[in-house]
Amino acid sequence: MAIAVEAVEKRYVARGRETVALSPIDLRIEAGEFVAFVGPSGCGKSTLLNMVAGILPATAGRILHDGRVVDRINTHVGYMTQQDSVLPWRTVFENVELPLRFRGLGSAERQQKVGEMLSRVGLSGFEAAYPIELSGGMRKRVALAQLLVYEPGTLLMDEPFGALDAQLKLLMQKQLLDIWAAGQQTVVFVTHDLAEAVTLAQRVVVFSGRPGRIKAIDEIDIPYPRDPFRVRFLPAFEAAYARLWDQLAPEIAKGEAV
Ligand SMILES: Nc1ncnc2c1ncn2[C@@H]1O[C@H](COP(=O)(O)OP(=O)(O)OP(=O)(O)O)[C@@H](O)[C@H]1O
Ligand SMILES: [Mg+2]
Repeated sequence: MAIAVEAVEKRYVARGRETVALSPIDLRIEAGEFVAFVGPSGCGKSTLLNMVAGILPATAGRILHDGRVVDRINTHVGYMTQQDSVLPWRTVFENVELPLRFRGLGSAERQQKVGEMLSRVGLSGFEAAYPIELSGGMRKRVALAQLLVYEPGTLLMDEPFGALDAQLKLLMQKQLLDIWAAGQQTVVFVTHDLAEAVTLAQRVVVFSGRPGRIKAIDEIDIPYPRDPFRVRFLPAFEAAYARLWDQLAPEIAKGEAV
């Protein structure tokens, strides 16, 4: 078991107003599993990832990661937050190198690992570039390299490919699936794009509108390796997409009515 969410609830109080972001939820994610979260905006997906990463405490309940209770910053997960953490004043190389510096790796090892990771995400030759000189997709790849470079066993990814154009998104999905196939990391992947969830995940968790709870969990019965360019033509893809849409659509409509 990689992640166990046990009766976890989150309430925020801001300016005297309480928001129930998550009503108590339970969820278990096995080691090596690829799970996607979908749900309407504001249903607590990022909140839940923040709690797994140990950045935010739960109001009630507890989260276990690799059998340990998460009660401080969880250094055993790699977290690609919704606002990426690429630093504009550092070069591509320096950005990707940063997590390794924090871990105290020596210069030669850093050099080798960063070089290898940049070539894997197709950014060789851009080591000395600053983020402002990159396209949106390249910047996302820097964030992906930064996430993967220290080889965390669990990856938390919050809408990592949301802002990319459709073709680049498919390419990035392919890269991520290749990386997952090679490393067997546990992946929790938040997306607004149902097609992306079905393309990538073994299980898709559908959250209800605020306060977020788990409305449905769907198994995606499509064998790996999956080709993001072609998977959408399979009958199993269509069926999964339709099932998930039936669960999700009323939740989105509820939010619109408020
Ligand atoms: N620091 C905070 N203080 C007060 N309320 C917050 C805070 N962070 C989030 N919230 C509220 O908690 C709810 C859940 O927010 P969260 O960011 O987890 O949603 P989300 O599902 O990730 O949405 P999106 O899909 O738009 O990214 C929202 O109503 C939001 O306004
Ligand atoms: Mg979010």
